Amino acid sequence: MDVSKVRKDFHILEKRVRGKPIIYFDSACMALKPKQVIDAVNSYYNDFTACHGRSVHYFSAQTTEKYIEAHRKVERFIGAKENEVVFTKNCTEAINLVANGLKWEKGDRVITTKMEHNSNLIPWMKLAKERGVVHDYVEVDNEGKLDIEDLNAKLETKTKLVSLVYTSNVTGATLNASEVAKICHDAGAMLLLDGAQAVPHMKVDVKKTGVDFLAFSGHKMLGPSGTGALYGRLDLLKGMNQFIVGGETVKNTMLSSWEAEDSPAKFEAGLQDYAGMLGFGAAADYLMRLGMEEVHSYEKKLARKLYDGLKAIPQVTNIYGPSNPEERSALASFTLKGMNPQEVALILDESANIFVRSGMHCCHLYHQDVIHEMHGTIRPSLYIYNTDEELDKFFDALRNIAALA
Ligand SMILES: Cc1ncc(COP(=O)(O)O)c(C=O)c1O
Repeated sequence: MDVSKVRKDFHILEKRVRGKPIIYFDSACMALKPKQVIDAVNSYYNDFTACHGRSVHYFSAQTTEKYIEAHRKVERFIGAKENEVVFTKNCTEAINLVANGLKWEKGDRVITTKMEHNSNLIPWMKLAKERGVVHDYVEVDNEGKLDIEDLNAKLETKTKLVSLVYTSNVTGATLNASEVAKICHDAGAMLLLDGAQAVPHMKVDVKKTGVDFLAFSGHKMLGPSGTGALYGRLDLLKGMNQFIVGGETVKNTMLSSWEAEDSPAKFEAGLQDYAGMLGFGAAADYLMRLGMEEVHSYEKKLARKLYDGLKAIPQVTNIYGPSNPEERSALASFTLKGMNPQEVALILDESANIFVRSGMHCCHLYHQDVIHEMHGTIRPSLYIYNTDEELDKFFDALRNIAALA
């Protein structure tokens, strides 16, 4: 992968802030957008703004065609079949769709880890509170890796769903999806993976891994803000209750009932973010053109350099995640001795135009209950447009800040 060529597609990287270039290390939160994605968004507004599937005129036909095409691109990106991808506004909505769409009985069990993003915790807590579903936790080890033995022990006949983070947004640990899917299926449970931090960074194939559901965000994989998707096996989507209902979700309406549409329309209520979804499709296209194996191996190099560089700074304490560099992602959560993470992030921003995230990263339970970092951690997260040189500047800036403590 030619990173200098890639960077040319991201015009925002030419921006100067306080008269200097920027270093964007916050892609786990929001990825930057290449020109190709922005062009796809603009084309909807400039060339054929309309509703999809309703009117018969040219603009509407164009919108319908491109919106369906965007589904096909995202399906292809993760190896799904036609109509197995439902567009949502983010990964959170995709998980909520499963929580609200599956048919639960009192006493059914759901298993997550304590390392989940709030998006993959609160929907299950709410279900437990309101519907009598039992929410249990499977352990992760001190590197953030799933404890397979504990998973085997926790699975029981009433376990309906196991819902786990695929790649953690705190530790960067990635689970073995095929292995976990097999264990869940052998025990009669379904597996949902929160792929927000996995799908943008490696080749994910839902059929090869055998996951039942995969939730992910478009905005973390170069797509427009406010885009996401749920993959679900077609037979499962078919059996699920509708979540938000209204226009587009029905074939017909009678006096006191309605005939639901097929998937994905039955879940995509009302007019959609057509521009955003065309951009989402363009993002999938962009990454497929680069090749996800290429993306992954480039990021592995960044991950190693990030880890080695952090380890070489004596004041860097507690670098969370796998100790084996091969198992790490191009993100790291750490603390700097004697410094508040928020303060470090602010100084990185103001002194060096380096943008990182600090705090609990929406994983309050993990920070408070497991790693006991009550002020959170500092988290640089990298993507295809980041470089070795940027990492060197980051380490220099960090050394300067460490000297202040
Ligand atoms: C692991 C993980 N899951 C879920 C989410 C939520 O994603 P979204 O904001 O697209 O709903 C995030 C966002 O940071 C995440 O990192």
